[in-house]
Amino acid sequence: MKIQSIRDTVTLADGQKMPMEGFGTYKLVSQDVMDRAIKTAWESGYRLFDTAQFYHNEKQLGNALQKLNVPRDQYFLTTKIPEPKQGYQSTLKAVDESLANLQTDYLNLVLIHWPIHSEFFNTWRALEKAKADGKVKSIGVSNYHRTHLEYLHTQAKEMPVVNQIENHPYLSQQPMVDFDRQSHIVTPAWSPMGRGAVLNDPTIGKIAKAHGKSTAQIVLRWHLQRGVAIIPKSKTPSRIKENADLYDFQLSNHEIKMMNGLNRNQRTGDDPELVYEIEHQY
Ligand SMILES: NC(=O)c1ccc[n+]([C@@H]2O[C@H](COP(=O)([O-])OP(=O)(O)OC[C@H]3O[C@@H](n4cnc5c(N)ncnc54)[C@H](OP(=O)(O)O)[C@@H]3O)[C@@H](O)[C@H]2O)c1
Repeated sequence: MKIQSIRDTVTLADGQKMPMEGFGTYKLVSQDVMDRAIKTAWESGYRLFDTAQFYHNEKQLGNALQKLNVPRDQYFLTTKIPEPKQGYQSTLKAVDESLANLQTDYLNLVLIHWPIHSEFFNTWRALEKAKADGKVKSIGVSNYHRTHLEYLHTQAKEMPVVNQIENHPYLSQQPMVDFDRQSHIVTPAWSPMGRGAVLNDPTIGKIAKAHGKSTAQIVLRWHLQRGVAIIPKSKTPSRIKENADLYDFQLSNHEIKMMNGLNRNQRTGDDPELVYEIEHQY
């Protein structure tokens, strides 16, 4: 996949276009920090903003976007349904809450944040309804393993177009990314830099030196070149800009292979299988 600009989009299986790079907002809670981050992100070219009800910041993000005073069709909003609100009626209600919080009449993408066994099909059915009602343009999932997708397929009227999973050089999940691709599902990486865990890696450091780039930029570029979308988060203006400055260099196949070799199945977050069983993140 050739990615040449932060404005580049991928066409999802439902025909909607999604930017390959977006801005993650986990842990941005105070209105001041959110305002500054969103303004810097917008000026740096980010056009996708990723939130979740679990982050308790939808209102702040909605306010920050209103302050930019830009047309709604110029940006893409993703949010997620948290475990306690899964179920048919409660998911429909949660979608309405997100619309109000984000001060918009449609959401570009709503994801089931984590699979849980008791409401597995009901939550998805509600997202299909929210889409049919025009409140949501695209529906997807997050933290689904192949088995969850195959199980969903037994009852879904339509399949997710996105599966957002933890992904970075220490947890590359290549078989999952490949399965998503074969199933026409786009994979965005959450914690694309492993929340900082991969940024001191000596191999990535060598590649960074050779390109005159930071390790963060090398890691983000690696995702894009293997067809994985990214939503890096930072509250620091210089890093927000740095993470958007990925489009003037190219990693070689050899460098990509070196990065692929760093996988050690190391998670920063929960194992989806446990969340499926116990029904919440811990
Ligand atoms: N679906 C899910 O279950 C799920 C789970 C987790 C996250 N997410 C989404 O994915 C987004 C990204 O994941 P994440 O926030 O967990 O992790 P991340 O983007 O991999 O890393 C963020 C951390 O790295 C630091 N950082 C950012 N850019 C940097 C740079 N250029 N150089 C050095 N350090 C840098 C940030 O520090 P500062 O902010 O202090 O600059 C922050 O501590 C989230 O914000 C959220 O939107 C989704």
